[in-house]
Amino acid sequence: MDLFRKDVYKGLESQPKTLPSKYFYDAVGDQLFREIMRLPEYYLPVAELEILKTNSGKIAEYLLAKKNAFEILELGAGDGSKTLVFLQQLDESGLDFFYRPLDISGNILKKNHQFISASLPDIAMEGIEGDFFSTLGKLDRIKANRLTLFMGSNIGNFKPKEAVDFLSFVAAQSITGDLFLIAFDLKKDPEVILNAYQDERGVTAKFNLNLLKRINHELGADFDLSSFQHYPSYNPITGVTKSFLISKKTQTVHFPDGRSFDFKAYEAIHTEVSCKYDEEKIKYIADAAGINKIDWWKDSKGYYSLVLFEKK
Ligand code: AVI
Repeated sequence: MDLFRKDVYKGLESQPKTLPSKYFYDAVGDQLFREIMRLPEYYLPVAELEILKTNSGKIAEYLLAKKNAFEILELGAGDGSKTLVFLQQLDESGLDFFYRPLDISGNILKKNHQFISASLPDIAMEGIEGDFFSTLGKLDRIKANRLTLFMGSNIGNFKPKEAVDFLSFVAAQSITGDLFLIAFDLKKDPEVILNAYQDERGVTAKFNLNLLKRINHELGADFDLSSFQHYPSYNPITGVTKSFLISKKTQTVHFPDGRSFDFKAYEAIHTEVSCKYDEEKIKYIADAAGINKIDWWKDSKGYYSLVLFEKK
């Protein structure tokens, strides 16, 4: 049984039901996520861009101080739109670097290549298609120093313990002195956070519901999309945003191999966590993973931060 089917069955058998958010990103999901990035409520990309525009020069100085060529390994690189400003600054600073965007979606890597090379035709780059855990361990090192980028608040989609495991794994593939630039969305006015996940135009709802559509297309299920609704929540104590798909009625969903899953009215499928951080939580996961904070920057609203770490 392929992994997607296995994960879907496992999630729908669980109590409460879950589906992994990593499966949001088929071609339609990629496109919907690009739309989310342009929504007025989804403040994250604007904040990240502001930090990069203001501070990439300073970050480049930290890299130049290492006096060696760098590979810039970007995990979950997406279409490159969140990285271009940074790469432009590195290029202008005279740093010798090789850009290696890694993404699970080959489709998005093609877009990444087109987008980056349109503005920076001369930089050395090569995309790597794969998921973090299986690909990173096998990856050769091509330059003396490595800067690992994990932008877009992607770390937020791990539960706190998973974030520690992930960072520990990434740090274990690195050598002393390697750098990491990681974006953390910060705790803030709960309404601002919640609105980012329940936009007026309903794009985020479509993005979540597209997972059921994908299961119908790829696994032959018969989810009736109109009888599920997107429901996000934010807990200001834990800093965790959770997204759910709620069954609007009692119903049964069938798969072609005879498997079926019963839903009670208003039963939830938990689809995603988006964790928001504060300074203590960032320090906690960095200490646990064996990396040291060397500098950090916030946007002018204090919504979001980029943190530069070094492997001990
Ligand atoms: C990719 N990730 C950081 C997004 C987030 O904010 O958790 C995914 C997303 N989900 C709904 N809107 C955006």
